[in-house]
Amino acid sequence: MRVLIVGAGWVGITMSVLFSSSHKVTLLDIDEQRIEQISVGETPIVEPGITEGLLESVKEGLIRPVLPSDTIGYQDVIVICVGTPESPDGQVDLQYIESAINTILSRIDELCYEYCVVVLKSTVPPGTTRSFLINQVKENQLDDRVGIVFNPEFLREGSALADASNPDRVVIGAIDDQSFNQVRTMYEQVLLNKSTPYLSMSPESAELCKYASNSFLAMKISFSNEIANVAESVPYADIDDVMRGVGADHRITAKFFGSGAGFGGSCFPKDIQGLVRFAEERSIQMPLLRATQQVNSQRPKKLVDMLVKKTGNLHGKKITLLGLAFKPGTNDIRESPTLRLLDLLLELGAKVWIHDPLVTSMDVSKHLRENATISAELEECMRESHGCILVTDWPIYLEIGLENLTRFMSKRVLIDGRRVFATQTTPNDVFYQTVGIQALESGKE
Ligand code: UGA
Repeated sequence: MRVLIVGAGWVGITMSVLFSSSHKVTLLDIDEQRIEQISVGETPIVEPGITEGLLESVKEGLIRPVLPSDTIGYQDVIVICVGTPESPDGQVDLQYIESAINTILSRIDELCYEYCVVVLKSTVPPGTTRSFLINQVKENQLDDRVGIVFNPEFLREGSALADASNPDRVVIGAIDDQSFNQVRTMYEQVLLNKSTPYLSMSPESAELCKYASNSFLAMKISFSNEIANVAESVPYADIDDVMRGVGADHRITAKFFGSGAGFGGSCFPKDIQGLVRFAEERSIQMPLLRATQQVNSQRPKKLVDMLVKKTGNLHGKKITLLGLAFKPGTNDIRESPTLRLLDLLLELGAKVWIHDPLVTSMDVSKHLRENATISAELEECMRESHGCILVTDWPIYLEIGLENLTRFMSKRVLIDGRRVFATQTTPNDVFYQTVGIQALESGKE
């Protein structure tokens, strides 16, 4: 099949690499620098398998990166993967969707020979596919040539290609059977698991399904964090054991029960907010999701309180934050809990050093200010530090171990916001505390 991907972001690049295993992919973006970079096989995103996959497919001509000024040619499927960021007033900003749809429809004779399907993949409020795409296609009397589908993505940063190649399900919100079948065939030819379920529903159900999936996963995390608060007040209770027992029920599963610093990233916070806003505009209250946000927003303060309890006044003291990326395996810092921790610690007068193996000071420049330093040199960050909070569970911290990690600190206090060392023996002169288990007076809880 000939597949045009519109938007060379995280999702667009990942889908291009996946589809190029069986289809002829054209990747369109308005950013000249990005297209130039991709043309020489370089990837603008850090993601396992993507760099090699992109390089190979571009070299073999299976992915053709293009700008809007280039000729594109006939396509079987056009997949819109542009961003839908949150605008300053909390609304979902749909300007990139609108402009991508306008571009496609204004060039439909160039892109569509007899029949093609336009797929919206970006996360959008329910009703967007109909109001932005279906209605326009009808108005332009293109219904007999253009099929329409809303097809959400469920990729996690850090394992995007693996998730894309082996999804739990493919949700296809199609306007008719022909659109559904074309998109299903496109996936069947690239997916590893031949028994992947294809779920057929309306575009509106598919749009809401994406919001609901992310909201539910985020709610699981906040639920676990709430139970962790209770476990801390119960001698001998341990949150990991509690949630292991809860998750062993096949109706629940233990995934996304990891308690600690809370969730961040470009998806959960934005999508929950998007759904809450969507519902409240219709006078529907969402107390569960409001509570999910509230529980999450309290996590950084909780970790700071744990630190202050042990180290006392932080004024003028060097404090280290381990990890800035919102999760390991990426240099993405959007909505990272570390940024909130940084604000809280600076307000208390601390001199904050942030260690991250991938994030550079350039990625984070607008957050850096007096008394805030970022470095990839772990020893430099830990030396003479009065206390440390582990926020992102980069594997390197576990590999180095508690003893070596805290060796150069002037006071060996480590607050573990991801329970990385929760099951390990704590060296005698290290004060270690994590969430979800009652703290002892000294040493490990
Ligand atoms: C999330 C979803 O997992 C994907 O299915 C979805 O496609 C994607 O959003 C999206 O909408 O594009 P992502 O944001 O990349 O993916 O990352 P996750 O692995 O879901 O982690 C999100 C946050 O939750 C991270 O800050 C992580 O540290 C935190 N988390 C995750 C926990 O605090 N505890 C857990 O048990 C799991």
